[in-house]
Amino acid sequence: MTTRIAIVGFGNVGRAFAGLLLQKREALRREHGVDAVVTAILTRHHGWARDDGGLDLEALISSPELPLRDSRPLIAVLAADVLVEVSTLEVRTGQPALDHLRDALRSGMHVISANQGPIAHAYRELEALATERSRALRFEAALAALPVFTLARYALPGAKVLRLRGVVDSAANYVLSEAARGVSLARALTAARRLGIAASDTSHDLDGWGAAATAAILSNVLLGSDLRVEDVRRTPITSVVAKQAAAAARRGKRVRQLLTITPDGATVGPATLSSDDPLFAVEGSSMALELETDVAGRLVLAVHEPRVEQTAFALLADLVNVARGGTTNIRSR
Ligand SMILES: NC(=O)c1ccc[n+]([C@@H]2O[C@H](COP(=O)([O-])OP(=O)(O)OC[C@H]3O[C@@H](n4cnc5c(N)ncnc54)[C@H](OP(=O)(O)O)[C@@H]3O)[C@@H](O)[C@H]2O)c1
Repeated sequence: MTTRIAIVGFGNVGRAFAGLLLQKREALRREHGVDAVVTAILTRHHGWARDDGGLDLEALISSPELPLRDSRPLIAVLAADVLVEVSTLEVRTGQPALDHLRDALRSGMHVISANQGPIAHAYRELEALATERSRALRFEAALAALPVFTLARYALPGAKVLRLRGVVDSAANYVLSEAARGVSLARALTAARRLGIAASDTSHDLDGWGAAATAAILSNVLLGSDLRVEDVRRTPITSVVAKQAAAAARRGKRVRQLLTITPDGATVGPATLSSDDPLFAVEGSSMALELETDVAGRLVLAVHEPRVEQTAFALLADLVNVARGGTTNIRSR
């Protein structure tokens, strides 16, 4: 059966996702019975494209501009079964991506988001809306390449997640890893930007806003809390912390931007880890999460130096699940 997809945002992730769809089109048909076609792509300043029979993705990926320039159509009128939201993150409000998800769910589409904003700010509302309409709400790609929600949905039925710890901001971890080698904070941040892993706004990574959004998502989805992004206690990474990272390295330790989530709240900030800590090994742009559960023990999920292609894969994995009829959302409590 054909699954029609509308993509909002056609930057690094949107284009990588379109490329992956082209690469895996035959395998998706053959192995999963999923015939995926993209019927619309919307951007903010770079035009839009629509063909209800299926766009020519190859041509669109190779062009910086999309062909249509007049005013963009509303999401509600698009011929799509699934909305893939990969527009720019606005971490403090989640908008306008939050409205994109609301419009899509109200119009009967499933939604898959790499954008953390809407999930961090309105998970309960979106989950209720999706469940009420028997639609899927998926956001594995919002944690780049750590498949934590798939793990929770399929590998932890009946288990309760009690606490989480993690290193979840690639850029912050890269900067601290470089600082441990004596590189200055400014130079490490410039290098992270060159690698395409740092946001243009420094506060996103070093002040912990990105990790705070991740904390709100993890806490609200897996612990059933009602945590707001602004309630996450953040301690920034400064040049003093960078010097501490270098000093810790000389003692065989590592400073990491550690995310800690308990039922009482969440914190993000530098912490010194010793070599017996499961998160000690998370170097460079790598990421990891440790989940402490009531009956499934302590689990650690890690991804080695993820790139945009892994975020695109997380979207694809969600798409296959949704196209095959998976509409069970992780219930907010
Ligand atoms: N990069 C990663 O590896 C990664 C990993 C996990 C999650 N994410 C999340 O994935 C999303 C996309 O990231 P990216 O790296 O692809 O960003 P990007 O390269 O900056 O692309 C953003 C795209 O969104 C479009 N856009 C912005 N506002 C829009 C609006 N109101 N309506 C329609 N389109 C809009 C932009 O269009 P214009 O260019 O015309 O402004 C652009 O095409 C972000 O939310 C990000 O946090 C990214």
